[in-house]
Formats: sequence, structure tokens, C-alpha cells
Amino acid sequence: CGEGGDIFTFLMKYENISFVDAAVKLAGRAGITIPKSSGYADKAKTELYDKLFAANNDAAKFFAANLKTKFGAACLDYMEDRGMTQESIKTFQVGCAIDSWDSLLEQLRKKGHSPEVMFKAGLITKREGKDGYYDRFRKRIIFPIFSAGGEIIGFGGRVTDASLPKYLNSPDTPIFHKGRNLYALNFAKDTARKLGYLIIVEGYLDAITPHQHGIENVCATLGTALTENHVRLIKRYVNKVVLIFDPDEAGVKAMLRGLDLFIKSDIKVNVVALPEKLDPDNFVKKYGKERFLTELKRSVKILDFFINYTIDKMPADSIDDKIAIVNEILPKVAMANNSIERDYYIRRLSAKLDIKENLLHDEMANKIKDLSYKTRPGSFGASAIRHKKTAAPGAEVTLLQLILNNVGFAAQLEKSLTTDDFTDPVIKRIIAKIFKIAPSNDAITIDNILSGEPEDVKSIVTKLVVKGIPGTGEELQKAFADCVYKIRHDGIASKMSEIRTLLVKASEEKNDKLKDELLEEYTKIGKIKNDLKKRYDRE
Ligand code: UTP
Ligand code: MN
Repeated sequence: CGEGGDIFTFLMKYENISFVDAAVKLAGRAGITIPKSSGYADKAKTELYDKLFAANNDAAKFFAANLKTKFGAACLDYMEDRGMTQESIKTFQVGCAIDSWDSLLEQLRKKGHSPEVMFKAGLITKREGKDGYYDRFRKRIIFPIFSAGGEIIGFGGRVTDASLPKYLNSPDTPIFHKGRNLYALNFAKDTARKLGYLIIVEGYLDAITPHQHGIENVCATLGTALTENHVRLIKRYVNKVVLIFDPDEAGVKAMLRGLDLFIKSDIKVNVVALPEKLDPDNFVKKYGKERFLTELKRSVKILDFFINYTIDKMPADSIDDKIAIVNEILPKVAMANNSIERDYYIRRLSAKLDIKENLLHDEMANKIKDLSYKTRPGSFGASAIRHKKTAAPGAEVTLLQLILNNVGFAAQLEKSLTTDDFTDPVIKRIIAKIFKIAPSNDAITIDNILSGEPEDVKSIVTKLVVKGIPGTGEELQKAFADCVYKIRHDGIASKMSEIRTLLVKASEEKNDKLKDELLEEYTKIGKIKNDLKKRYDRE
């Protein structure tokens, strides 16, 4: 597939896990035990984790066995009423906690778990003002919460009547964090990867019911907003998610809390609310899989939703109203990583508000500048207006590819460009390395270039080498000249556009001195750009 590396890097990329995790996984398959850690602190930590997992496992078994009790029968009735099948009760390992203060405590004690461990696992609670502990979950249906790897990390307990709180969850523990885990992801990840997207809902049953109806790429948040940690987790499996949210005001607000996070992340996020204010559990039960999937097709990009929602919500009668709307929306659009995407939203906004596109573009240039000044104080030049996550520009990639496939170009490159002319950090780094070893062309081997470089750099370079670049000597020479020209030209052009923005600002602020300086600089580099072009056209 053009990707470089070995089975470790393959697994690291495929599962988006660390080298150590990949090594442990592969060792497991090969029947080799890797000592969990040599460091003392880490060893203590892994030992604790193992104890917590063991306690949770025994707790889940105990809860499941409780379904045979009288209260268990009532729970089964309740679940049947809600349409849960025997099969999903088994798959999701649902059980119950009986009406007792210490049945779990005693059971786990018998199995050899210490109260300290049960407490750390969030299974028992300390008595107030007295010694001793009591069961955290009592008289509730219990849903074990699994890690993406399928280990039981916590529990959620639902009452079977109208008492409160409706759900009680494990507290955060060393192995359980609501802001890092998604319920049912272990059951959803393979299908999600196959289908290319993950559906995220809000409740235990909103995840279970779709699974029961054959919609298997569904998982649920655990009563918290989505976090950066969730996004990282999701990215192991998919780069697209569909969020199903409650159509009421609170539900919309909760969903939009993830807006910034998602715009900045490189996963695609669509959102949709189901008709009749039904939650996924009730909708799927009422209408089934096909209608559910049809509703998903109505989902829209989260930023589109935000734009429509903001415009609908705010008055747009006067020009001041429109400016208020633009100020609400443009900063979000400016956050998008991709200029094509930003352009798309500008066009939508322009049409919706009847404001000229170029005005919105100008406004957004300011917003982007605000953003990048915020992240890189004091920066000036091309980087300030370019957003931080643009993909490597094509000419830089092609140029690197040319050098990698024909080291003779390295010496020529030193005469035409410096490392500062490159904008992409990885390419810049490799070019610097090439310059360092360039005095002797023989030394420019792929191994020398790659030695000491991190995995991601290795993979990029390997990919470019493997891909190769076809053409006759003359064609390659021409391609080389084109790339050099384009890189210099774009560097100057983006500097000029930066100065233009600053000029507008300087004249708004009536800072004539700065304005003159900027104009002089602008003319100077404008001339360099023209000369460059003339020379290029001649050649
Ligand atoms: P909802 O109140 O929307 O309920 O909570 P639901 O999931 O539709 O529950 P059912 O259908 O009545 O059984 C959504 C999620 O918020 C968390 C739980 O994770 C729940 O699944 N929650 C809710 C709590 O943690 N505690 C609560 O008291 C209520
Ligand atoms: Mn519900």
C-alpha cells in the first residue's frame, strides 16, 4: 500500500497504538511474554491495574448470576419490556445488583479481593464517619462498561423504577475515565472500521438497541461531553463519525460543545437528530434498521449545522445583525484545517446572508491571523497566515521525491533554495539532513537520510522512494526547475498576502509610518517575484 515499515509499524498505524503496545500484542501472538515493566513505579501500577480488572471481572460474574434471584427476575421483566433480547443481555453481560449493602463486598472478599482494591475499582463506597465500606450499586440493573479492547473497566447501573438517580456509574478510577471511553466501542469497532464510520449516541440502551437490530457500528458516551481523548480513541478506527443528538435546546447545546474540538480534528463529523424527538433506542424499536439508516443519510456536517442553527437563531434584518452572525460563525470556519473546506463554508455563508464572498474572505483572513498569532506569538511571514495543519505543498513533496530518486539534484538544490524556503516541517527536516550530508553525493543514501529519524518521517520518505518518479533525465530536470520556482514563488506570494492584510490593518489604525514601511517591503518583494518569473519564463 505504499506505506513503509515492519510489522510493528504496521500494527502501530493500523491500530493507532504505541510501539510498546504493538510489541506486547505481537509478543502475545507469538507466545512470548514481555515483562510488563522494569520500572518499579510502573510495576506497581500494572499490578494494581491487574487487580482492578480481576475485581471487575468477578463483580460482573456476580451481577450476572444475580439475575437468577427474585430481584433479578424483576430486572429481566423490565429488560424484556424494553425489548432487550436474551442474546443481547448475554453479549453485553448485563446483570443486576440486589437490594443489599454488602452482597458484592462479601462475594469479592471470598474470591480474595481486598476492600482497598474494590474501593479503588469504584465497586464499594466508604462509610461516612465510620470504618468499613458498603456496595456502591444496589437494586439496579448493571451494565458492565468495556474498554475498546473488551476488558471490564467500570459499571453503569439503572434503576427499574422512577427513583433517582436514574443511572449511577462507576467513579473515575485508574482504569476507567468517562472522558476517555465510549460504551460498546469494543463491540462496534470492527464494523465501524469496515463501514468507515462510527455512530455515537448518548445512552447505554441507545447503543444496545441498534446493535440488537444489526446496526453494529454504534457506541455511546458515558454521560459526558466528547473530549479530545475520545477523538484520539475514535481515530484508531475511523475518520468519520455521526453524532445523534437530542433535538431539544439542551441536547443541541451539549452536541455543539464538541464543535471546536471536531473542527480542529481531522475527523469528519456529521450530526443528526431523529424525528418525533425519539432517542435511538425508541426510534430503532419503532421503525427498525432501514429507517434508522435513512435518517442517518439526513445528517449534515457539524459546521453546516452550526451555521444554519446560528442563522435561524439570530435576527438577520439589519446589517448589524448580519455582522453579529458573521462574528459568531467566521471564527469557527477559520478553525477548519483545509482551505477548500473554508472556502465551501464561506460560499454557504455568503449565499445565506447575501454578503459578498470576498468580504467574508477578508474578514476570515483576519480571524485566521488571530488564530495563528495566538498559537505562535510574534510569528511573521508565510507561517502567520497559513493555517497550522495544511498538508505539505505539492511542489515540496515532488522536489523531495526527485532528490530521493536522484541524489544528483541535492547539489543543485543547495544553489537554489535554503531549508527556510520549505514550509512543511517534515520536509524541511529531511532537506536539512540532506544538506548536512550533501558534500559527498555518495553519502546521500536512503539509509543515511533515515538514520535517527522518527517513524513518521521514515514512513513518509520510504513511501516517496517506493513510489518513484518516472521521466527522462531532461523531464526530471524540468520538473526540478518547476518545483524550485513554485516553492520560491509561493513563499513570496504568501508573504505578500500577509503584508496586504497588515496594510489594511495599518491604514484602519491610521498608522502611516508602519504603512509606509509595509508598502516599501511590499514593492521590494514584488519586484523579486517579477524577476523570478521573468527568469523562469526565459529558461
Ligand atoms: P438519559 O437520561 O437520556 O437516559 O441519559 P437514556 O439513556 O435514554 O436512558 P433510558 O432509556 O431511560 O434507560 C443518557 C445517558 O446519560 C447518563 C447515562 O450514561 C445515560 O445512558 N446518565 C443519565 C447518567 O449518568 N446518570 C443519570 O442519572 C442519567
Ligand atoms: Mn432512552
